[in-house]
Amino acid sequence: MEQLSAQVEHYKREIAGTIVANKDELENFRIKYLGTKGLVKSIMGEMKSVAVENKKAAGQLLNEFKLFTEAKYEELVSAAIGKPLNQGSELDLSLPGAVLPIGTRHPISIVQNKIINIFRSLGFSVAEGPEVEDDWHNFSALNLPENHPARDMQDTFYLNESPAWLLRTHTSSVQIREMQKGKFPLRIICPGRVYRNETISARAHCFFNQVEGLYIAEQVSFADLKQTLYFFVQEMFGEDIKVRFRPSYFPFTEPSAEMDISCLICGGTGCSVCKKTGWVEILGCGMVHPKVLENCGIDSDKYTGFAFGMGIERITMLNYQIKDLRLFSENDVRFLAQFKSAL
Ligand code: DAH
Repeated sequence: MEQLSAQVEHYKREIAGTIVANKDELENFRIKYLGTKGLVKSIMGEMKSVAVENKKAAGQLLNEFKLFTEAKYEELVSAAIGKPLNQGSELDLSLPGAVLPIGTRHPISIVQNKIINIFRSLGFSVAEGPEVEDDWHNFSALNLPENHPARDMQDTFYLNESPAWLLRTHTSSVQIREMQKGKFPLRIICPGRVYRNETISARAHCFFNQVEGLYIAEQVSFADLKQTLYFFVQEMFGEDIKVRFRPSYFPFTEPSAEMDISCLICGGTGCSVCKKTGWVEILGCGMVHPKVLENCGIDSDKYTGFAFGMGIERITMLNYQIKDLRLFSENDVRFLAQFKSAL
C-alpha cells in the first residue's frame, strides 16, 4: 500500500508538470497515461497484489489518480484549442473556409412551384391530402363505385393489410377531402405524388406527380374553366402557345374534356414527340359531376364547379425537352445540376 501511494505521488508530480507544445505531444500524453496500454491502466492492475484489508483504500487512491490524469488531459486539450500551436500547424483562422457545394432544386419541384404560383395569382390556394388513401376518397366519392369499369383506367396498388386502403392513383382524392369541409367558394390546387401499377419505361413510372385544380362556387361555368386554363398555359409556356379542347370522359366530370397545346418541340409542324399531329395532351378537365358534389354533401342546384388534373412530369418534359421520364427518379447529379431556378 505504501509503495503504491509513493508511486502514485511520483506520477502525479510528473503529470502535473507536463506541458505540451503541439498536437503530437498532446496525443503522446494521452497514449502514455490514458491509452489502453497506458500508465493508468497498468497501475490499476496493481490492485490484485494489494492485501484484502487495503483494497478499499487502494481502490480510492487509484480512482482518484485516474480522475486526476483525465482532468489534466482535458486541461491540455482546452489549452490547445484556439491557440496556434507550433507554427500554426493546428488551427489557422486566417485560412479560407471549406467550400460547401450548393444543391439545385429538382426540375419537378421547379415546375410544380411555377404552376402553384400561376394559380396563386388567380386566388387559388394550395391543399394537400394523404398518399395512403381510402377507397372512398380515391374512387367511390368520385363517382367510381365498386365494379365501375372506369376503375380499370388506373392500375391501383392496394395495401396488403386491407383492400379498403390504397396508394392514391390521382390527386382528385384531395378534391373530395376539401369539398367535405363545406366552405365556399372553394378555389384550390393540390400538388402531390400519385402511384400506379405500371411498368417503368421512358414514358411511364409507378409513381409520378400531379396537380389537381378545383373551383366550386355559385354559377361557375365551362367558360370559366376555359379562361382559367388559357391563362395558365400562356403564363406557363408563353403567349404564342395554341390550345384546343377535345371532348373526353371522366366519371367525376360532366361534360369532360382533354386539353392539348401546340407541340413545343416542333412548334406544331409535327415531330416524334407529338406523333406528327402538332398537338400534345397536357390535362384532363371538366365540370364537377353533380353526383360528386352530392357525395360531399353539397347542394348541386346551388353550387357548380370545374376541376382539372395534370401530370407534372409531362409538363416538365415538354418544358425542358427531356425524353426519358426515368431521369427524374435516378438521382444523377449530372442531370439534376442542369436546372437552376429561383423558384
Ligand atoms: N384524375 C385524372 C387522372 O388522373 C385527371 C383529371 C381529369 C382530374 C379530369 C380532374 C378532371 O380533376 O376533371 O387521370
